[in-house]
Amino acid sequence: MDLDDQARRVLTGNDQGGYTIPAAGLYPYQWNWDSAFAAWGFSTFDVDRAWTEVETLFSAQWENGAVPHIVFHRPDPGYFPGPEVWGTHRTPPTSGISQPPVAATLIRKVYEADPDAGQARLAALYPKLLAWHRWWRTHRCHSGVVAITHPWESGRDNCPGWDIGLANVDASGVGAYTRMDTQHVDPSMRPGKLDYDRYVAIVQFGRECGWDQDEIVARSPFLMADPATTFILIRANRDLAVLARRIGEDPADPEHWADELEAALPEIWNEDLRSYDARDLRSGRFANTLACGAFLAWLAGSRAPGMEERLMGVWNRVRYGIPSSDPSGPGFDARRYWRGPSWPFMNALIAIGLHEAGRMDEYERLRRETAAVITRGGFHEYFDPYDGTPCGGSDFTWTAAIWLAWAGRG
Ligand code: GLC
Repeated sequence: MDLDDQARRVLTGNDQGGYTIPAAGLYPYQWNWDSAFAAWGFSTFDVDRAWTEVETLFSAQWENGAVPHIVFHRPDPGYFPGPEVWGTHRTPPTSGISQPPVAATLIRKVYEADPDAGQARLAALYPKLLAWHRWWRTHRCHSGVVAITHPWESGRDNCPGWDIGLANVDASGVGAYTRMDTQHVDPSMRPGKLDYDRYVAIVQFGRECGWDQDEIVARSPFLMADPATTFILIRANRDLAVLARRIGEDPADPEHWADELEAALPEIWNEDLRSYDARDLRSGRFANTLACGAFLAWLAGSRAPGMEERLMGVWNRVRYGIPSSDPSGPGFDARRYWRGPSWPFMNALIAIGLHEAGRMDEYERLRRETAAVITRGGFHEYFDPYDGTPCGGSDFTWTAAIWLAWAGRG
């Protein structure tokens, strides 16, 4: 069977009927940004199914506009922390945080795959997307750029950028719990115990606040500015404005929100690092870590002087795609999740930006390097950026999706 067929098989195999799980066993529910990538993948062979994926995700949207990072459609004892830990008291149960808003950008691709088929579905989804983007602006952009209230909200859980913020989180009262992730994947490729205790402690804090967003932002022990989510939201607002025009809606709000975010970017420019950087909003301190999120600057059309040379220097230290953190920086670990490995879906997102910036050699290099690890190692979750060893879960939805939509189209 050729790789395209295998990739389609991963998507249809992870399809639960209306939504796709990221990977069997390890991630048995619907995840927010994974689903947006799944939709992009489905759009290469089943546009109707692509729309259904995001429609199912948005059916769990909160009244305040938030689109949760996990939707627990059906109980599954094989995952921790499950719905009872989050305690959001919703039907279907959901987590209490969100995830990077890539949906508008990838829905635009789904729409463009077949505009006629997508017209009515886009019109129905548009107000929900707009409400979600408004939620980001209202509840996460107090300082200008995007703040995250949990490392999981960034989608890059144990990236070294969050270490200074996590150091403020007291996990001494977290209580006993059993991790399930380390039963599916080699623990040396997953976040460490102290990180996990802190993740759970922040969830417990959110639940104690009744998931009241104002209270969480005011009092959470963890609040950090995230360059990656900021770039993603700038881009998503621009794409939402384009989609608005396609269905005769007024694009002014998303355009204005993108402009506002762009104007706030100097807040996360770390001159010492010559890069955009995560920043602890409680102390004002920069993380001083260069991470793959900085490479999303192109996605947002941002061109900071000196940045490009710096980013290329980081990429040139490895062989297989963009490392999730700088190999010469603190906390780097080539196989531990977001502390070093190269993630195919992240490479795909970075590539969209490279393409638009006209950096075609780099775009093609990134595609080639990503295709090489998938061809050799299969549709794994992430890869060692030095030798391409497959890491984490296998038969992963978003890796298969970006193979079909991008990496495999050489
Ligand atoms: C991990 C990743 C996150 C992803 C989820 C499901 O938590 O860090 O980005 O959405 O797994 O694949």
